[in-house]
Amino acid sequence: MTAASALPQTLVDRFGRRVSYVRLSVTDRCDFRCVYCMSEDMTFLPRSEILSLEELAAVGQAFAELGVDKIRITGGEPLVRHNVIELFETLGALDGLKELTLTTNGSQLDRMAVPLRRAGVRRINISLDSLDPERFRNITRVGNLNKVLAGIDAACEAGFERIKINTVAMKNRNDDEILPLVDFVVARGMDISFIEEMPLGEIDDHDRAEVYMSSDEVAEVIRQRHELVPTTETTGGPSRYFRIPETGTRVGFISPHSHNFCESCNRVRVTTEGRLLLCLGQEHSVDLREILREQPGDMLALKRAIVDSMAIKPRGHDFNLQAKPVIFRHMSVTGG
Ligand code: 5AD
Ligand code: SF4
Repeated sequence: MTAASALPQTLVDRFGRRVSYVRLSVTDRCDFRCVYCMSEDMTFLPRSEILSLEELAAVGQAFAELGVDKIRITGGEPLVRHNVIELFETLGALDGLKELTLTTNGSQLDRMAVPLRRAGVRRINISLDSLDPERFRNITRVGNLNKVLAGIDAACEAGFERIKINTVAMKNRNDDEILPLVDFVVARGMDISFIEEMPLGEIDDHDRAEVYMSSDEVAEVIRQRHELVPTTETTGGPSRYFRIPETGTRVGFISPHSHNFCESCNRVRVTTEGRLLLCLGQEHSVDLREILREQPGDMLALKRAIVDSMAIKPRGHDFNLQAKPVIFRHMSVTGG
């Protein structure tokens, strides 16, 4: 048994990177089937294999006690998990946590925006790839654009400090909507990030290399109409941010194919099954569920496993669009 005093207060890996940010996936399920994320017909995990809300809360607490100050709740679609608001309330009350955030597809936000804000969520990211109902349906396979737009309106009214739209840019699918989407966020005082597609999971009827659009190409389109002023802001991830002068809007570009962010990586992920993933693009992981279930309530054992995982955090990822995917996890399991 290790004494509590032997545990460090912060998480630092072999390369001197301080881990201060955790992305926690609370479900692999989703009410959408976005073409780049899921197959039409998906098999989801049995309930016994996913962490309970209590186990998720214990994981959040362990990380907070190890100096993590930002937790993002992801999925799947986090808001389709039953009683998930209880988890937000528990995490929102944790000492030391500066930021509790959420990535959502917006489908449940019309009813969830106010409870989330009350639980202490101050910023949210909402995915939106098209403003055209039919196209939105094609990309999400089943999504209803009007429901999502109502959710975005509800979020604007609920008083979040920042709302960011996430758009996966795809050639010949939504590249003609880049400027309309920028207008949409500028009009509402929101931010937007354009994401390059990542090769996560094998997907039928969707050729990733064919629709791939680089962040530079997206920026070129925006510059036809708007000035983009670089900011020094960084979240330690693969995003670069710009301001559009005379608006409150920031435009981000998420380029997971670029390697230069790995050296400042400050994050880890926990899958729906409680696997602690040390890098989005690699398989290195630690099974936290086993510890949670074999030593229930043993916060020290959980923290020890997290501290020890720092020894296997890889230097960087290895994405390649042309090659067969080496990563068999879908984004919905990994948690964005
Ligand atoms: N590549 C890039 N982005 C993806 N997302 C889901 N799957 C992929 C992928 N393979 C996006 C969603 C959402 C965010 C969480 O990740 O659209 O905006
Ligand atoms: Fe659901 Fe998000 Fe995946 Fe779309 S990208 S299917 S909304 S988890």
